[in-house]
Amino acid sequence: MLKMVVCVSGGGTNLQAILDAMQDGRIRDTRLLAVISNNAGAYALQRAQAAGVPGICISPKNYESRDEFNEAFCDRMKELQPDLIVLAGFLVSIPPRMVEEFEGRIINIHPSLIPSFCGVGYYGLKVHEGALARGVKLTGATVHFVDNGMDTGPILSQKAVQVEPEDTPEILQKRVMEEAEWVILPQVIADIAEGKIPLGKK
Ligand code: GAR
Repeated sequence: MLKMVVCVSGGGTNLQAILDAMQDGRIRDTRLLAVISNNAGAYALQRAQAAGVPGICISPKNYESRDEFNEAFCDRMKELQPDLIVLAGFLVSIPPRMVEEFEGRIINIHPSLIPSFCGVGYYGLKVHEGALARGVKLTGATVHFVDNGMDTGPILSQKAVQVEPEDTPEILQKRVMEEAEWVILPQVIADIAEGKIPLGKK
């Protein structure tokens, strides 16, 4: 049984795609221990509650310094003892201690074909604004292991999505989610649960 924690910051549509895949059996032998958000108002926490999954808010705003937040975040994760941590629209950088303690056990979904439109400043809608500004005809999404860099870890899965002439950032974001993100993120988790993708040592 794969024990998983999902970290979120906003709407949580990728979390919902994971919950749906667990519900309909595309993801098997997996238990979602908790959903962690840095944002108490994240709609994703309501999705967790509706699915009967504990929702936890750990916000940097509630700590004196970033170091204190990082310590509290790491301590909470260690208490939960997940096999796998999934960053599903989590817009906080992962503390180096967590990357070290969960090496090869943290995955992230990014809404572009890495190495395009990734790294510092590229998150959420900004990724799609960048893709449209550059005039690319293909974009997509990437699931990758998290290392100490920004969107630099080993790539696990990618799916391409066509850019259409009339696209706005919002329209493109929706297409990338529907055609790529909500497909490849549950698929990678299923592959991990089935042992097709090996995780780092505990
Ligand atoms: C998703 O598009 C995800 O790929 C992106 O934020 C969105 C969250 O949506 N993540 C990043 O940009 C990370 N660099 P959601 O809350 O509806 O899943």
